[in-house]
Amino acid sequence: MDKYIVKGGKKLFGEVEISGAKNAAVAIIPAALMVNGVCRIENLPQISDTDKLLEILSLMGAQVRLVNKTTVDVDCTNVYLSDEIFELTKAIRASYYLIGSMLGRFGEARTTMPGGCNFGVRPIDQHIKGMKALGATMNIGNGLICASARDGRLKGNRVYLDKVSVGATINIMIAAVLAKGQTVIENAAREPHIVDLANFLNSMGADVRGAGTTTIKVRGVEALHGGTYALIPDQIEAGTYMAAVAAAGGEVRVTNVIPKHLDCISAKLVEMGVEIEEGDDYVTVKRDAVLRHTNVKTLPYPGFPTDMQPQISTVLCLAEGTSIVTEGVWDNRFKYINELRKMGAEIHVDGKVAVIEGVSGLTGAPVAACDLRAGAAMVIAGLCAEGTTTIEDVEYIERGYQDIVGKLRKLGADIVAVTEPNDPADKTATASAG
Ligand code: EPZ
Repeated sequence: MDKYIVKGGKKLFGEVEISGAKNAAVAIIPAALMVNGVCRIENLPQISDTDKLLEILSLMGAQVRLVNKTTVDVDCTNVYLSDEIFELTKAIRASYYLIGSMLGRFGEARTTMPGGCNFGVRPIDQHIKGMKALGATMNIGNGLICASARDGRLKGNRVYLDKVSVGATINIMIAAVLAKGQTVIENAAREPHIVDLANFLNSMGADVRGAGTTTIKVRGVEALHGGTYALIPDQIEAGTYMAAVAAAGGEVRVTNVIPKHLDCISAKLVEMGVEIEEGDDYVTVKRDAVLRHTNVKTLPYPGFPTDMQPQISTVLCLAEGTSIVTEGVWDNRFKYINELRKMGAEIHVDGKVAVIEGVSGLTGAPVAACDLRAGAAMVIAGLCAEGTTTIEDVEYIERGYQDIVGKLRKLGADIVAVTEPNDPADKTATASAG
């Protein structure tokens, strides 16, 4: 029942610190299931997806202890399969990584089909192909996935991915770590969080090589041991604040980032007339000139990330001239454009291509977050629009952005989170600064 109310027109100034990478965290927490001992995970983002994954591990017998807000100790010494996790696994996408980690740990897996943001069909055939190649029998029906390894342990093999898939690359990598012999993943995805997962696994005793290239080799080991690992910063959260400054204007230092991971986003913003200065672990983003149009095509890393497509499209609404945005990863990731149109955006969508005619400004309106990144795009639109924007369904946003309201308020934005009581007879709303 939460919503955000944004009063637009304020430029953003100051410093924003980026949290740990969501898509690394949601891979590393399931991978911790395979570790015999205590895994200390640092720089963990405080978001609902990671909370749910930690709860899943607890339901499987793991000892989960929050050391501080961004550090957690996970001890999976005494874990077991449990059907109690099903309500949670069907609510999040990353629960599919439990297939790989359960098979690795127990030689069998029991979970549900994953949930997550809905942008059309989201097949997992490449995950299944990978598990089968490693010797698993897969039974899928009635929303459940049951898998078991022949002879109780997976066996390394060569897996060629027919499509570059982040999720399948990660899942197969996780499953292969405790398999017998060597696994080679070809046509692997190369996203920064794939390298992060490999580094996590290696620091716990695994033997993973080549992560970050299209060929990953995993030599199976007998067991993983505990250790401490700090997650990389979130590339997409950083890109979202960069886009917010580009849209609203102002000057912001985005800290705790790896600038190299932001190259593809910075390059596009510079083409649009945004000034970007890179430091060792920060980027400063400044925009006071008129925005120029450009074209964007989303692609697997190191291409422009699909998870930044709604945010950059929103910025392009304010750029002079016509911009073309092509979605190269997902079939149906333009649903949010109807919401932007309510704010005065002029966008024509044809299949995977959006043609954006720049307008002189957006106007506030009641809109909804259709999914996580679409929700972030609505926040950006609200920040630069004239008047008030009310954003419904913000639980999508909170799946992936730690304290977005608090961070934006620190930069001078006029945004509040409002919780409305479920009872329609009770009209009192309680506002919080987030
Ligand atoms: C991950 O999803 C991210 N999610 C997504 O981020 C992100 O959009 C996506 O990678 C692409 O970068 C998580 O990490 C939890 P894929 P994933 O497998 O792994 C096709 C966000 O906003 N495909 O790389 O599910 C698929 O249809 C979220 O943070 C198959 O055909 O994506 C798509 O066209 C949303 N068969 C393409 O590959 C498969 O078995 C890439 O999907 C798997 C995928």
